[in-house]
Amino acid sequence: MPAATDQTTQLVPGAPRHVAIIMDGNGRWATQRGRPRLFGHHAGAKRVREIVEACPDFGVEYLTIFAFSTENWKRTQVEVAGLMSLFRRYITKETRALKVKGVRVRFIGDRVRLDAKLVKLMNMLEAETAENTLTHLTIALNYGGRDEVARATQRLAQDVASGLLHPDDVDEETLPRYLDTHVLPDPDLVIRTSGEARISNFLLWQSAYAEYEFIDTLWPDFTKAEFGHLCAAYGNRDRRFGAVSS
Ligand code: FPP
Repeated sequence: MPAATDQTTQLVPGAPRHVAIIMDGNGRWATQRGRPRLFGHHAGAKRVREIVEACPDFGVEYLTIFAFSTENWKRTQVEVAGLMSLFRRYITKETRALKVKGVRVRFIGDRVRLDAKLVKLMNMLEAETAENTLTHLTIALNYGGRDEVARATQRLAQDVASGLLHPDDVDEETLPRYLDTHVLPDPDLVIRTSGEARISNFLLWQSAYAEYEFIDTLWPDFTKAEFGHLCAAYGNRDRRFGAVSS
């Protein structure tokens, strides 16, 4: 088998280059089955693998998934601890497959509040997959859009204070360089599962011109086929970025 990094992305006309997903509905999926919420999160983790591996088939080069928000700490201690343990398990179990499949993994969000063992695994996964280029998977963990902008602004202000940056040079190209996503293109398509039509503090700056799909499917039921359908539908949209259609 050729090295994964030798593979080139299949060209799909009109494909969204960067898809971001709010994976919602794990809790309801579990409750419908009379099972604890964590059962739904485990089912959701299995979907992550299927969707990541489907990206090259649909021309998606960048996939960003919302795994844990800065607001999710308000959940019960049992659910938070269960999710953290699931993230550790996911990294440990999936590193090899991600590496072989050409997936480069990055994490965004504030790592300060995360436990040291998890942060170590996150750093390891980023390093282990750093040479891959086929699919860029970004996992948002302890991520909030407002928190990200606040942290970026703090770093920008430090550069102004130390004379590295002049206030007159700050424009809309400047701030993104300080965001966690500074190496990523903006998302073209944002999908939210489970019937909720809100963005919940996800990629606030970056999604200014994204197309949105709010679908009823609960995340553990989301399939490769539905993902493909949404990517194809994106190709039919007329993105004008504020201009007039030609
Ligand atoms: C939202 O559903 C989901 C989350 C807060 C967690 C997302 C996590 C996963 C999909 C697990 C695996 C992720 C990785 C990266 C291994 P919810 O619990 O709010 O559902 P509800 O709205 O039905 O209660």
